Amino acid sequence: MFAAIETSFDEAGIALCDGGGVVRFETLSSQVELHAPYGGCVPELAARTHLSALPQLWRNIPEELQGQISHLGVTSGPGLPGCLLAGTNFAHGVARALKVPLYGLNHLKGHVFSPFMPMGKEPPTAVLYPHMALLISGGHTELFLVEAFDKISLLGQTRDDAVGELLDKVSAMLGYGYPGGAKLEKLARTYPGLTSDGRYDGAFKLPVPMRQSGDLNFSYSGLKTAVARMALPEAGASNALAEEDHPSLLACLFSVICESLWIKVRQALRSHDVQLVTVSGGVAINGFIRAKFAAELGHVGIEVRFPQPRHCLDNAEMMAWLLKLTVDSGVEPAGFDADSNWNPGQPAIVS
Ligand code: KG4
Ligand code: ZN
Repeated sequence: MFAAIETSFDEAGIALCDGGGVVRFETLSSQVELHAPYGGCVPELAARTHLSALPQLWRNIPEELQGQISHLGVTSGPGLPGCLLAGTNFAHGVARALKVPLYGLNHLKGHVFSPFMPMGKEPPTAVLYPHMALLISGGHTELFLVEAFDKISLLGQTRDDAVGELLDKVSAMLGYGYPGGAKLEKLARTYPGLTSDGRYDGAFKLPVPMRQSGDLNFSYSGLKTAVARMALPEAGASNALAEEDHPSLLACLFSVICESLWIKVRQALRSHDVQLVTVSGGVAINGFIRAKFAAELGHVGIEVRFPQPRHCLDNAEMMAWLLKLTVDSGVEPAGFDADSNWNPGQPAIVS
């Protein structure tokens, strides 16, 4: 049985999967309500809360499953330094007590391989190499070429805000609170002139960022400013945007986000011959983005895979699955340090 602990950001989770990759147990302690009054995650508060949550979460594991744990993994980067330390210190203690090998796991690699997790009781599909992986979350917007389990290259990334960060900031700006992605999607769906794959026919116009940049990078801070200029008098709007116009503006925003993500993947596909593209991370729950990628990749005959919605947001199940893949691929456990900037294409910092 493979057990993993995940505390890279504001969720603490523990999950166990069996040798076939089927999740046998999971528990999560969410801090969304704790951070909501601050409009975003407060790192110190998150780390301190993990310290008290982890022992309680561990006690939730049924005894007979605890006895079957053969390998333990813990997210050791990237993430908030205090949160990573809370998880890795706890994991060192547990591994010693259980006398099982401990592996430091990369959180982004967890997202990247999450689309291959078994669905329910179905056997897992083999990971197809090479493939392209778009990771879109609150902290990350990255495009990877995945040539083998241990050969992951970063093709492009955001120069500033992540796409989920843009949604969270726009949500705060318009008064819908944190986190914002799901609420904004719901509102945009009430606008009648938006097709399921994100084509918008309304009055608002927003620029598609980085359209002409020539590289595979992304940028979302300019869109945030453009939305502020349309919605907030203090940012230059002639009047505060009426609430009834929010759905149209948000529909326009999602349409531009879909296009900005797709044009970079399309460009990358011209120089890398792959038969599969995956889209993972919290923002990959989004129905407009799923429909856009399914339609565009369908046209060019390339398969697209998404994780199940419950495995898009940060979770420990994807880390238990990653641990299983790590052990299956013959990687030996090694000493590691928490590394808040660990790029999955690079080796871990080894203590
Ligand atoms: O993967 P995740 O839990 O955290 C990071 O590792 O960053 O992703 C959280 C992000 C938040 O920015 C949230 O607003 C966004 O996922 N999100 C969505 C949706 N549900 C959550 N974005 C767009 N559409 C959604 N339905
Ligand atoms: Zn994440």
